[in-house]
This record gives sequence, structure tokens and C-alpha cells, in this order.
Amino acid sequence: MAKHLYIKTFGCQMNERDSEIIEQLLARSGYVLVDGPETADLVLVNTCSIRDKAEQKVYSLLGQLAPLKKENSRLKIGVIGCVAQQEGEKICKRAPYVDLVVGTQQIYRIPSMLDRLVGGETSREIDTDLKSSFTIPAFQRLLKGQSPSPAPVEFRKFVTIMQGCNNYCSYCVVPSTRGREISRPVVDILEEVGILIDQGVKEITLLGQNVNSYGQTNPVDDHSVSFADLLHAVAGVPGLERLRFTTSNPKDLSKELIDCFAEIDILCPHFHLPVQSGSNTILQKMNRKYSRESYLEKVAALRMARPDIALATDIIVGFPGESDDDFSRTMDLLETVRFHGSFSFKYSDRPNTRSADFPDKVPESVKKERLQRFQARQDQISLEWNATYVDTVQEVMVESTTEGKARGRTATNHIVHFPDTGGLCPGETVDVQITHAGRHSLQGEMLTTDVTC
Ligand code: SAH
Ligand code: SF4
Ligand code: F3S
Repeated sequence: MAKHLYIKTFGCQMNERDSEIIEQLLARSGYVLVDGPETADLVLVNTCSIRDKAEQKVYSLLGQLAPLKKENSRLKIGVIGCVAQQEGEKICKRAPYVDLVVGTQQIYRIPSMLDRLVGGETSREIDTDLKSSFTIPAFQRLLKGQSPSPAPVEFRKFVTIMQGCNNYCSYCVVPSTRGREISRPVVDILEEVGILIDQGVKEITLLGQNVNSYGQTNPVDDHSVSFADLLHAVAGVPGLERLRFTTSNPKDLSKELIDCFAEIDILCPHFHLPVQSGSNTILQKMNRKYSRESYLEKVAALRMARPDIALATDIIVGFPGESDDDFSRTMDLLETVRFHGSFSFKYSDRPNTRSADFPDKVPESVKKERLQRFQARQDQISLEWNATYVDTVQEVMVESTTEGKARGRTATNHIVHFPDTGGLCPGETVDVQITHAGRHSLQGEMLTTDVTC
């Protein structure tokens, strides 16, 4: 009889990809995914620790799951991801009904840990080892022999190209929750991309916390492969239609990578380049290792290489010591670059980070006001950018269709809503004339008539 698996995933795309891999690994042990915890035999909470009160959120969710164990004695509860890595067995002290705690680099061990738990060999399994000699297993080989998933194949997938981060930005938990940076061998990445394309995937996003330093920390000896080389290699896999990547630290953004935007057709003109602050004083305290000026130079070079490029960023407001003047430099940077969109956050202290001990913490009310000011201006700028697409024709890759309404994405990563006039399929690319622009999406009419689905 099939066993039921429910996974709740928080955090970044890396966690999403990890959840997918775990789902596939567990499918071999007879687990099928369900969309709620009520009927589950195994609940996994894949956690994120990047901001705010991540730990409290996890404990409160676990508290909600606890009663289910009383109703179903077979139910196992596991905590994985960055909070699991950070808290380890502390989780079981506060939530004794948790059976499994698995750190970010041990997810491939989940099936064997579960076998021991279910077989009654152990009553609890914890592994948060962050091995220094860790290599990302070629998971596609682990999965060999598995029958194709009965779930509809998605046409967009993430591929993790590196783990961890060596940058130690002073506010960031990632180096402690994901460990040292390590790149996957090119051959494994290309194999995974090839398998995904054979399964019907058309768009790949390469994932890493700092993809620009890909290849500098490679376990097999191909240090000569830069991220730009990897992009060219992946773009050469037959059948791939769109290629994206995330995230990039501006300090490592090379000319070679900027040139890729001019050279690689299928590399989408959309770049997420987190700047965090417009003030050099704050950037220095953040340990970002670039200046406002060098960031602006790179933005200019990117726009030269690919004039239609849509730039997005991340901003932290209220970093310790951020004065009104520092914040006005962030606002001024927004006016200068005019990002298409941004993710902006109030600074929060995180465990094991240097900035948690910095003086001059900014009061919550000031952080809130700065965040609102930034977001209000960003919304106006996003709307102004979106309006420039009205009356243009965009190639839109369809993501979903329901009741005659289609939703898709432009190469620049703008969401487009348009009427589905004839049986469109997810993954299909059609021409859409843009008719209206909103702050967060565009609307249009489909021009393509010979849809393939
Ligand atoms: N690797 C990426 C960032 C990953 S974390 C980079 O180097 O840019 C995603 C975003 O969360 C960061 O860009 C930052 O804006 C935000 N963030 C990280 N730590 C934070 C903290 N302590 N407080 C508030 N925001 C934070
Ligand atoms: Fe965190 Fe900085 Fe690494 Fe990004 S580059 S993951 S912000 S330490
Ligand atoms: Fe969160 Fe860990 Fe990703 S802290 S942002 S899930 S790397």
C-alpha cells in the first residue's frame, strides 16, 4: 500500500529543489505526495532561517502537527533545511514528538534514516553533519531505474549547481546553515539538465547562493570552468529553450559573464543582482566587498550588453547603524538604476552572524517606515517599466491555463495574463500583444494561432 508524504517547504528555490529531490528519492520507497498532513505517514517541514523569527515559526507549525501523531501512531515528523541545520537536536528537546532532524547536506540519507525509524531500529534520527569534504551526489544516478513520475511533468525546473557560501556577509546565516561553498562537476550538471529536457523540461534555472564564483571550489579538478563557461555548456544542451540563473553577488560579476547576455540567445534578459544597500558605509559593514560605484558600472555594462535586460535586486533596510543619510543613498540608487522589481526586507538579527552583535540597531518603527517608502517608490517604478511593454509583442511561455484564462512569463520574467483562445499547453511559447500593464503583471491578447496542444 502506498505511503503518504506531505512536505511543507519554506525559503528559497534551493529548498524547493531539495524538496523535489527528496520526493523523488522517497517515491522509490513507495511514498506518494499528498497535499495535506492529515492523511500523511510522513510529514517533512523544510525550513528557512534567513530572516525574522524563523525558529518560532517552525515550533509553532510543529505544535499544530503534534495532535496528528495522537490520531495516527504510524506518523513520522521530520524537520529538514536551514533551521534543522542550525538547531539540530535542540528541536527534539522543544518538540519531543519530532522523529527526524536532517541538516542541509544530508538529505540524501533520508530514505535510509526513515527505514531505520519505520523498522523500529531507532526511535529518533538526527544528522546535521556539515562535511568539509562534501560533494553533491549526482542524484540522477541515485534515481536510476525509477519509473517516470506519474505527476504531470513541469516544464520549468531548478538545477542546483553549487552548495553553501564562503562570503560571510555579516548579516547572513547561509554560510553556517549550508556550509562551505562547493561546486558540482560540470558533467553531473549537464547530465541532470539532459535528463530533465528528455522529460519535457524547457526552461532551466541554475541555482547557487553565489553562482558567479562557480568553479572556484570544484571537488573534481575542473577549476578552469567558470560560470560563463558553464552557461555556454548548458545552453548547448539540445532542446533547452530558456536558461536563467540565481543568485549573483555583484562582487564576482565578471565581464565574461556580462558578455554571456550578448552571446547566448536562450539566456533570458532578466538578472537578479542583489545590491542590499546604496550606501558604501553600510555595504562595508555588510562585508559585501563592492561599492555603489562598482555596482553601477556593472549595471551599465549589463545594459550595454543586453539593452532589454530587466534588472531585479534585494534590499535590506535598517541594517545596524543605517542613518537617514545612508538610507537616502539606497533610495537614490533605486532612482538611478530603476530596478524592474525588488525584494526588500527589514534587517533582522540572525544566529551566528556578526551583525547580530553590531551596535546602533535601528528601531523597528524606523525600519518599517523605510521599508514602506522604498516599496512604494519601487511599485511606481515597476508600473512605469511595465507600461513600456504595452503595444509590444512578447514571447510568452505558458505556465497554466484554467477556464479559458492563460498565464505565462516573458523572457524578462514578467507575468502575462491573456485569454486562452484554443487549448494552450503549459510549456508552449506563444506571441502575445501586450494591452495593459499593472504593477505586478501584464495583460494581453494572443497572436499565435497554430497552438500545438
Ligand atoms: N546569495 C544572495 C542572497 C541570499 S539570501 C546574495 O548574496 O545576494 C536572500 C536575501 O535575504 C538577501 O539578498 C537579503 O536581502 C535578505 N537577507 C539575508 N539575511 C537577512 C537578514 N539578516 N535580515 C534581513 N534580510 C536578510
Ligand atoms: Fe549570504 Fe552573502 Fe552568501 Fe548571499 S553571498 S548567501 S548574502 S553570505
Ligand atoms: Fe533560507 Fe536556507 Fe535558502 S536560510 S534562503 S532556505 S539557503
